[in-house]
Amino acid sequence: MITFKEIQKNPSVLEFIKQTEVTLKAHNYTHHGLRHAKLVANRARTVAREIGLPKRSQELVSIAGFTHDFANFLSRTYHNYLGALIFQQLFANDFSPKELAIIMQAIASHDKDKMKFSHSVSAIVVLADKSDVHRSRVTVKDIKKIKADIHSRVNYATKSSRLGINKRSKRITLSLKIDTNFVPLMEYFEIFTERMVYCRKAASYLGYKFGLVVNNIKLL
Ligand SMILES: [Fe+2]
Ligand SMILES: [Fe+2]
Repeated sequence: MITFKEIQKNPSVLEFIKQTEVTLKAHNYTHHGLRHAKLVANRARTVAREIGLPKRSQELVSIAGFTHDFANFLSRTYHNYLGALIFQQLFANDFSPKELAIIMQAIASHDKDKMKFSHSVSAIVVLADKSDVHRSRVTVKDIKKIKADIHSRVNYATKSSRLGINKRSKRITLSLKIDTNFVPLMEYFEIFTERMVYCRKAASYLGYKFGLVVNNIKLL
């Protein structure tokens, strides 16, 4: 059985992530490269482990998390579907049909309008992906350009983002530190409310409540 370690070293996977990074940088889009891939893979594994999923499921969430954005170099609009199909083309012989289906579904579902879950791997990838709001995702260096774009502004103002899992209180909480001198908090909600709704749905599928804490103030 192929492992996350092997997928992480696969030359095609690494090249697709690299090309995604180059392509989205050219569009001044937030970072979707190796840093994001690693963070989502690690965050997804932590959630899976903390909520008590078996070891192999922890591997599957890491693999889906690492590859979820790797088709952005082909198309931003359909990157989730293309990513699922590319994954199947690359690794059709390396997973059982069931595992392949689970990973493909997680990649395809991470960016859908109608977020409905039928597997915990998909739900965990959404939580790990949508919670990655952070200054390091801003690829633009010019502060004037950063200020001119709301996505860049809000990400730039986010100095820390942490996803905590409390098994006893059954809560998954995203804690953010946002520099409100740089952006009014309202702008965060202007662009990320939909993402928070996805996180709530994902947490709820796993049997958890989703919490949001901004600058030590509990908002959800
Ligand atoms: Fe994506
Ligand atoms: Fe992503």
